[in-house]
Amino acid sequence: MVTRCICHDVTFAELRALADATGEDLEGLSRRTGCCTGCATCRPYVLLMLRTRQTVFPVLTPAQIQRLARDDSDPASHR
Ligand code: FES
Repeated sequence: MVTRCICHDVTFAELRALADATGEDLEGLSRRTGCCTGCATCRPYVLLMLRTRQTVFPVLTPAQIQRLARDDSDPASHR
């Protein structure tokens, strides 16, 4: 299971609590904690955490990661 940004040792549960407390989006969480700024493997999981509030994930397939990245770049998906 995937539970954290390994590069910056911050869990998705910690990121969710920070997002709840501050209203930060992915970019804000990244600025505050460094998550997604190393290898960026955690980025799709952080996006998913913000959407679903889940903090523990199975390993995503490449197709799932591509879909998340596509949705993230589509302004219509942010409504
Ligand atoms: S796992 Fe988060 S930046 Fe590498």
